Amino acid sequence: MNNMDQRSSAYELLKSRLINEQHVWLVTGVAGFIGSNLLETLLKLNQRVVGLDNFATGHQRNLDEVQSLVTPDQWANFRFIEGDIRSLNDCRNAMQFSPARSGNTDVKNEAVEYVLHQAALGSVPRSLADPITTNSANITGFLNVLATARDAGVKSFTYAASSSTYGDHPALPKVENIIGKPLSPYAVTKYVNELYAEVFARCYGFRTIGLRYFNVFGSRQDPNGAYAAVIPKWTAALLTRETVYINGDGETSRDFCYVANAVQANLLAATVIGSEATNQVYNIAVGGRTTLNQLFALLRENLAQFGVDPVVQPAYRDFRAGDVRHSQADIGKAMTLLGYAPTHSIAEGLREAMRWYVDLQRQPQ
Ligand SMILES: NC(=O)c1ccc[n+]([C@@H]2O[C@H](COP(=O)([O-])OP(=O)(O)OC[C@H]3O[C@@H](n4cnc5c(N)ncnc54)[C@H](O)[C@@H]3O)[C@@H](O)[C@H]2O)c1
Repeated sequence: MNNMDQRSSAYELLKSRLINEQHVWLVTGVAGFIGSNLLETLLKLNQRVVGLDNFATGHQRNLDEVQSLVTPDQWANFRFIEGDIRSLNDCRNAMQFSPARSGNTDVKNEAVEYVLHQAALGSVPRSLADPITTNSANITGFLNVLATARDAGVKSFTYAASSSTYGDHPALPKVENIIGKPLSPYAVTKYVNELYAEVFARCYGFRTIGLRYFNVFGSRQDPNGAYAAVIPKWTAALLTRETVYINGDGETSRDFCYVANAVQANLLAATVIGSEATNQVYNIAVGGRTTLNQLFALLRENLAQFGVDPVVQPAYRDFRAGDVRHSQADIGKAMTLLGYAPTHSIAEGLREAMRWYVDLQRQPQ
C-alpha cells in the first residue's frame, strides 16, 4: 500500500452527490485529451454537458471513444458544438444546453452552471514557432469564454492554467504565489489567463479558479505530431521500435500527473463552496519529481510485457528552447482548500495509460 491508496474522500462525497443531482456543465476543448476525460467522468455521473471544440488539436475519435464508454442515456446528456473560442458567437451559444432536436419542444434551453475551460493551443515549441495563433486561441479565446460565461451568469469558471507560469523561478517545490518570468509565448498566455481571471473576480465578483496543471498524462493524449507530449510520444516510439530522443542530459525533472487527478481537481474546484477557496490558482500534480531518464526506464519497464526490448537505450540531443529544468509542485493549497487528494501516482497512472497506448498502436490507422 502506498499513500495513493488512500482515496479522496471529498471527491468521493462530491461524486455521490452529483450522481443524484443533475447539473449543466460546459467543457471547452472537449475533443482534446483532458476535455474528453472530463466529459467521460461527467457523463458517467449523469451530468449534462455542452462541449465546444474546433478540432484544432482534438479529435472526433476521442468523442467516439467516450460514447463507447457510457450508456446511450448518458450520451444523450451531451451536446457537441463544433465551434471556435475565438468567436464570441460560438462562446455565447455554448452557454446553453439545448433540448434534443427530436425531443419534446416544450423543453427549454438550460443555462450552463459550471464552466471547465480547457480549450487552448498547448505546447511551448508550438508557441515559439507561431506565437500569433497561440495568442489568439489562448488569450482572445480565453477572454471570450470568460466574458460570455460571466454574461450568462454561470456559477463558476474553472480554467486550465499551467505550471509554465513558474517560468525561470528556481525555487522547488513550486508554491502558487512565487513565480518567475515566463520562458515562452505559451507561458505568457497562461499567465495572462490568470490575470484576466483575477480581474474578473475583482471587478465583477465573478467566481474563477485556475488549475496549474503539471505535465498531465493518460488515455487520449495525442501521441502524434510535432508537438506531442513526452509520455505519449515516447510510448509510441518504443512500441514502433523507433528511437526515443531525450532533449538534454535526461536529468530534467517533472511532476507527472495522471489525468484522473486533473479531472478530480476540476470537479472539486467548480463546486467548491466558500470564498476562501475561490478566485485562486492551484497547483495540480502529485508533488513528485521524476527525471526524464527515470521516465524512460519506467516506460520501458511497463512496455516490456508488450514486446518492447527491456534494455533499449534512448538517444540524447540538445536541450530544447523554452524548457524549464526542474518542476515539482507543492500541492498543499489544493489539498487544504479544495480537498484535492490525488488518487494515482505516476507509476499507477502509467500502468492504466499503457494499455490504452498499446491498443491505439494496434488499431488500423
Ligand atoms: N496536458 C498537459 O500536460 C497540460 C499542462 C498544462 C496545461 N494544460 C492545459 O490544459 C488544457 C487542455 O490541454 P490538453 O492536454 O487536453 O490539450 P489538447 O490539445 O488535447 O486539448 C485542447 C483542445 O482544445 C481545442 N481547441 C484549441 N483551440 C481551440 C479553439 N480556438 N476553439 C475551440 N477549441 C479549441 C483543441 O481542438 C483540443 O481539442 C489546455 O488549456 C492546456 O494548455 C495542459
